[in-house]
Amino acid sequence: MRHFLTLNDLSKDEILNILDLASQIKKDTLNKIYTPYLREQTLAMIFEKSSTRTRVSFEVGIHQLGGKGLFLSSKDIQLGRGEPVKDTARVLGGMVDMIMARVYKQSDLEELAKYSGVPVINGLSDDFHPVQLMADLLTLKELGLNLAKMKVAYIGDGNNMSHSWLMAASKIGFTLNIATPKSYEPKEQILKIALENAKTSRAKIELLNDPKIAAKDANVITTDTWISMGQEDQKQKRIKDFAGFCVDDEIMALGKNAIFLHCLPAYRGYEVSEEIFEKHASEIFAQAHNRLHAQKAIMVWCDRNKND
Ligand code: CP
Ligand code: NVA
Repeated sequence: MRHFLTLNDLSKDEILNILDLASQIKKDTLNKIYTPYLREQTLAMIFEKSSTRTRVSFEVGIHQLGGKGLFLSSKDIQLGRGEPVKDTARVLGGMVDMIMARVYKQSDLEELAKYSGVPVINGLSDDFHPVQLMADLLTLKELGLNLAKMKVAYIGDGNNMSHSWLMAASKIGFTLNIATPKSYEPKEQILKIALENAKTSRAKIELLNDPKIAAKDANVITTDTWISMGQEDQKQKRIKDFAGFCVDDEIMALGKNAIFLHCLPAYRGYEVSEEIFEKHASEIFAQAHNRLHAQKAIMVWCDRNKND
């Protein structure tokens, strides 16, 4: 059975095939053709953290595929009162066809996958946000970029989004510059996996501490919040430490007519200036809307591969 816990679980071809399927499903959806690929199937959606896009896109997505989504806030289910993940997994696995979970620990997703007996999709963990990356890649493909040849600059925190960009670059083979303040670099063990993958894909990956060097000649400049969910108590320190990392006119001007992406929610005046956000709003909201289409393709892929 295949799960979707990190892009590292997939080959380059699998990633590209899911993107093709997403484009086809999107075209149909925009023509109001809703093929029931997952007729009568139920998706459990566990949320330990808040969400707007992930919740709505999965719930609408499974509905459009002919199935039903169950929103399960960990505050409302027994998981939040200490029921073990592996027991929750075994209960849900006997009742639902697929699980999407937004959790703190990546190991909880692995436990859900191990014990549930149904495909599990990562809807964000402290380490990765792979469904977001699929929407990002779909958006860049639609904007005409050659995914294998593009140059992406990720500017900001070495968090789950930076890790997912590392996985995407290292699988697909594009150039990725990541600029973070010192001591906010991506996790070493994740970087190691990316560098190992890059030997095959020929991705060029560079970690920097200067956003201006990172942005030079980039086709895509992207960022994310400096304060991820669960880090609220570090807010004041982080705002100080990230001085100089706001993506503004000066940084965008260094790119090559660069596209700007942001997974949202965005905090203007911090990781991105108001002007840059609004100038690139059509790209950013296309990216947000592509969550729906990319994730429908991911669910169909999981269903098609559940007997592997
Ligand atoms: N980008 C993203 O995952 O948004 P939500 O937190 O609103 O789901
Ligand atoms: N890095 C952010 C992404 C939000 C979609 C977080 O984990 O909160």
